[in-house]
Amino acid sequence: MKNRSLVSINDLSREKILSLLETAGKFEENPNRRLLAGKVIGSLFFEPSTRTRLSFETAANRLGARVIGFSDAATSSASKGETLKDTIMMVSNYADLIVMRHHLEGAARYAGEISPCPVINAGDGANQHPSQTMLDLYSILKTQGTLENLHIHLVGDLKYGRTVHSLLFAMRHFNPTFHFIAPEELHMPEEYRIFCRENNIPFTETTEFNEEIIAEADILYMTRVQRERFSDLMEYEKVKNCYRLTNAMLANSKPNLRILHPLPRINEIAHDVDENPKAYYFQQAQNGLYVREALICDVLGIDVE
Ligand code: CP
Repeated sequence: MKNRSLVSINDLSREKILSLLETAGKFEENPNRRLLAGKVIGSLFFEPSTRTRLSFETAANRLGARVIGFSDAATSSASKGETLKDTIMMVSNYADLIVMRHHLEGAARYAGEISPCPVINAGDGANQHPSQTMLDLYSILKTQGTLENLHIHLVGDLKYGRTVHSLLFAMRHFNPTFHFIAPEELHMPEEYRIFCRENNIPFTETTEFNEEIIAEADILYMTRVQRERFSDLMEYEKVKNCYRLTNAMLANSKPNLRILHPLPRINEIAHDVDENPKAYYFQQAQNGLYVREALICDVLGIDVE
């Protein structure tokens, strides 16, 4: 990579992760700083997004940058057949940084390798979503007071869920115990289980999701079954209602438990959970602003001090 792009959470060491989280804390204290006056951010979303795009664009605006780009590839020349390479080369003529979401796994790595300006991966297919992971880590640290020695329950679509894949990689620095809770059709892919074994990360696997299992959790990380990742919609229909967290299921949960979800949710968290103080997913999304301010400054080499 010829620049400071962030395409995978594996690009970040433990020290770098902790340093970025500390910087994010400074942005939480004061999100409005004109550190990027005169800069232009290219925001290229080939796939739909609410939180990631809007929080990146808000971060850019609060730091004094301007934003160009598209939120629907159908309105770009990609719809006429322009290649990803040509799109990246064009936008890098105009922007100092590219934030890109793309449906193809590896698209962000490719963009980062050919782009003259840095690229931040805002999600590439079922592969990675590193800025989401950084805000997940920030949320875990803020609510637990530590990232170390936590029991983290990952629930739902563990096959296609790029957020759980990135989180699993990042947590290797912090001695976690994972609990994978998924239907057979959406279980954690073998490569991630091998990763856990090679890194001495203990994990359990089950298809059951109940009060007893939740009682062991420090972090309950819920995910949506992603309709858009299924080539056969009959397969989606079979698993779309696999799990539903209700408030009653939290009766015996630990006092420090927090429920995270990258969002959007469909029906996997009942609305009666929203009022429970252990529900943290809306604050989690808010934390995305501070973390993305820190990430933008870092890849642009801006000294936040
Ligand atoms: N968490 C997340 O990536 O949300 P969006 O798809 O709305 O950006």
